[in-house]
Amino acid sequence: MSVQEIQHPLIRHKLGLMRRATESTKNFRELAQEIGALLTYEATKDLPLESYSIQGWCGTVEVEKIAGKKITVVPILRAGIGMLDGVLSLIPGAKVSAVGVVRNEETLQAQTYMEKLAPNMGSRLALIIDPMLATGGSMVATIDLLKKAGCKEIRAMVLVAAPQGIAAVEQAHPEVKIYTASIDQGLDSNGYIVPGLGDAGDRIFGTK
Ligand code: PRP
Ligand code: URA
Repeated sequence: MSVQEIQHPLIRHKLGLMRRATESTKNFRELAQEIGALLTYEATKDLPLESYSIQGWCGTVEVEKIAGKKITVVPILRAGIGMLDGVLSLIPGAKVSAVGVVRNEETLQAQTYMEKLAPNMGSRLALIIDPMLATGGSMVATIDLLKKAGCKEIRAMVLVAAPQGIAAVEQAHPEVKIYTASIDQGLDSNGYIVPGLGDAGDRIFGTK
């Protein structure tokens, strides 16, 4: 199974607050960042470590550091920016690779309009962030783009996922692991996740 619904009580509590339609822009924004950080903790749990020696206060000490690939965080613009600071609070040295994808609200097709990737994508672990995985079109387009740029290891973190979006990613890119705060019921006739959060980008940026 390539999807993990994270059951941590802090995540469940914070997501509950985000679902309230009257939650302020300020609170919604803060909660998106906080859940972004908590998902990062879960999505990086299995990163390999290596030992090295340092001079501590009482002599040589064996300590550990994260080994292997450097991380690039990939926010899907625009709403992915709403999780970025939370993710970077735990991985402050990560390079940020921005990908602009917008969903046509009538056809629900994803259109890529910009990319600005970190150098040497082939030697990085890409952590894609986007609050919403609805039909999956935007996520699949982003993974396609990252693979074209040479990425070999890709993970995705979303606040809310619809079963249809999970299935689309699993079908196109079965090796990509998805970490989500919730797997919701499905999509409405406009392609919005139910119960979902509404339009996450509008709620994060206050553009509604
Ligand atoms: C939203 C959301 C995802 C996408 C999900 O972005 O942030 O990127 O829709 O839908 P999908 O799974 O059906 O592709 P939107 O296109 O509204 O753009 P925005 O981030 O600029 O608000
Ligand atoms: N984009 C959103 O912001 N919300 C949804 O429910 C679906 C796509």
